[in-house]
Amino acid sequence: MLLGVDYYPEHWPESKMENDLERIVALGANTVRIGEFAWHMMEPVEGEFDFSFFDRAIERIKSYGLQIIFGTPTATFPAWLANKYPEILSSDEYGHQRAFGGRRQYCYNSDVYKAKTEIIVSELLRHYANEEAIVAFQIDNELGHEGSDQCYCGSCVRNFRRYLNTKYESIQLLNMRYGTIFWGQTYNDFNEVPAPLPTITTHNPSLQLDWARFRSDSINQYAKLQIDIVRKYKMPHQKVTHNLFGGFFDRAYDQNVLASYLDVVSYDNYPVWGGLEKPLSPAHIAMTHDYIRGLKKQNFWIVEELMGAQGHTVIGYLPRQGQAKLWSHQAMARGCESLLYFRWRGMTKGAEQFCQGILDADDRINDKYTEAQTFFSDVKELEDVYNSEIQSDVAILYDYDNRWSWHNQPQSHAFNYTDEILRFYTPYHDLNIMTDVIDLKKSFEHYKILMVPMMQIMDQETIERLTTFASNGGTVVLGFRSGIKDRDNNLYFGENPLKSLIGSEIKSYESLGHGVIKPLVGYDNSNDNLKTCSVWRDLIEPIDSETILRYEDEFYGSYAAVVSNKVGAGKVYYVGCGLSENGMHEIIKEIISNQGISPKLTPEGVESVVRTFDGGSVEILLNHNGKIIEHDGMKLEPYGYKTIKR
Ligand code: GAL
Ligand code: ZN
Repeated sequence: MLLGVDYYPEHWPESKMENDLERIVALGANTVRIGEFAWHMMEPVEGEFDFSFFDRAIERIKSYGLQIIFGTPTATFPAWLANKYPEILSSDEYGHQRAFGGRRQYCYNSDVYKAKTEIIVSELLRHYANEEAIVAFQIDNELGHEGSDQCYCGSCVRNFRRYLNTKYESIQLLNMRYGTIFWGQTYNDFNEVPAPLPTITTHNPSLQLDWARFRSDSINQYAKLQIDIVRKYKMPHQKVTHNLFGGFFDRAYDQNVLASYLDVVSYDNYPVWGGLEKPLSPAHIAMTHDYIRGLKKQNFWIVEELMGAQGHTVIGYLPRQGQAKLWSHQAMARGCESLLYFRWRGMTKGAEQFCQGILDADDRINDKYTEAQTFFSDVKELEDVYNSEIQSDVAILYDYDNRWSWHNQPQSHAFNYTDEILRFYTPYHDLNIMTDVIDLKKSFEHYKILMVPMMQIMDQETIERLTTFASNGGTVVLGFRSGIKDRDNNLYFGENPLKSLIGSEIKSYESLGHGVIKPLVGYDNSNDNLKTCSVWRDLIEPIDSETILRYEDEFYGSYAAVVSNKVGAGKVYYVGCGLSENGMHEIIKEIISNQGISPKLTPEGVESVVRTFDGGSVEILLNHNGKIIEHDGMKLEPYGYKTIKR
């Protein structure tokens, strides 16, 4: 179990190192992360390498018995590089080249940047690969974050055309698959195909989806380039990792591909960042952990865990006493097995003056220090528990093609992809039932329940897999708009391919914009516990299916909103609208009871996770409320945490 801090010794006078390391050790840390933004220190002038600062830092760090995660420094390149080779700088959608000054403003398709990356990473690895104290190499930092997933420079456009050429081979095939006959967009040559730059109205949906896939590919290929070099030199005990950012669904980047190249996935956990007035909901944070764990179906590391308020130019909510520690415990409960805090001390200079660390600029031991210290001592006791594998009966499926398709065609002003995922996820969190959040391509046969929101794109193979799953006794819950499109992002022609799976026809649909809410009634016309819908509604005509909820309005009251259909030994639910929380809860309670899964009831805002390990079972209770909660004859302190041997 690695426990520690992001150190950045280069931010401080070297003479401070001893005092810092003494206090880092007293914190209970065993690891520091260093190096990831220090390219200029390692190569101050082109071709002249100097690792002497880090050599000295590593000697000092080792003398305190600490281990090291070393980052390749490519997220921030030196000014000389941008000055001499301006073509490495990425361009936004308005054709403006990004300036030197921030970070990660390089183009993933720049040959020069790739060559320079190869050189610095090889030099670094040749220099440090035999350093036993380095237990992991982190490549770059939060690839694709902060808008760096997109670049529209000449090199990217050229590479995009090459990507399309490889994929379709003939331009006629691309024309056919895209349907470029529409608006007379037929191309004679791959060199005529545009990047989806600003235009009037909107681009072809197939083109937009291919662009997103190409962007994702560009990032993953760039990552692979570094990973291959690290693997060539590193020692067997050294792991290869990369730290993924939160808000992953907002980027054109499929992290499953990158995860497949890594030994261990790392995550940067910031439940509140920038100007947010309040933190993400406990369910939302939990969903991000379940997603990160799902990338490799394996426990993960957090190499940046928030400790204190964060933001570049605007800052918001300050975590309450104990809250950052509670979030750390929550992460461990949900599959984190090593955790480092961002960062040892806030830096007085530079763009992150307002990103707090454990210590602040006054350099004094404070409450955050004590929080981190007690966290480290608590979790050390539970190493066996946190090294154990997490098993779930329920999987929430997502798919990046769908994410990108919805991004370009949200269809309702009220649509938000992450909120729709949470609509299907949150009831399980409330009932304390562990879930995996996984890519559709992963195997899902062993689950009991599949939650399948936001899959407007569904290929035949997916439909078959889901049908087999249900036939064998599983429960599938589909969301609105399921299965209307093929993998080219085009609508299916003819009969809805989901018709027999959902035992229903979708007669029409209505987009419900901001603030539009429609009432629903149960099949028995009961109006107690009123359910409603928002965002979207499909107008469903059941054929073999059973109506669970229907609309209640003058014109469309005869249509169902939610149906269920028996398929072999199992059942498929189709939730044809943005169903209110009480509605989702009722359906999920019915489903889990049919599947023999017991919920664990806790007071609102109290999360319970049971981990089974060699030595038995432990229940981890997390009080996300800022007040004392009585539960099971126990008192949970505000933002308090308890473990109970079961
Ligand atoms: C992370 C990033 C760190 C630092 C931190 C500030 O996203 O990886 O380098 O910027 O945010 O909160
Ligand atoms: Zn580019």
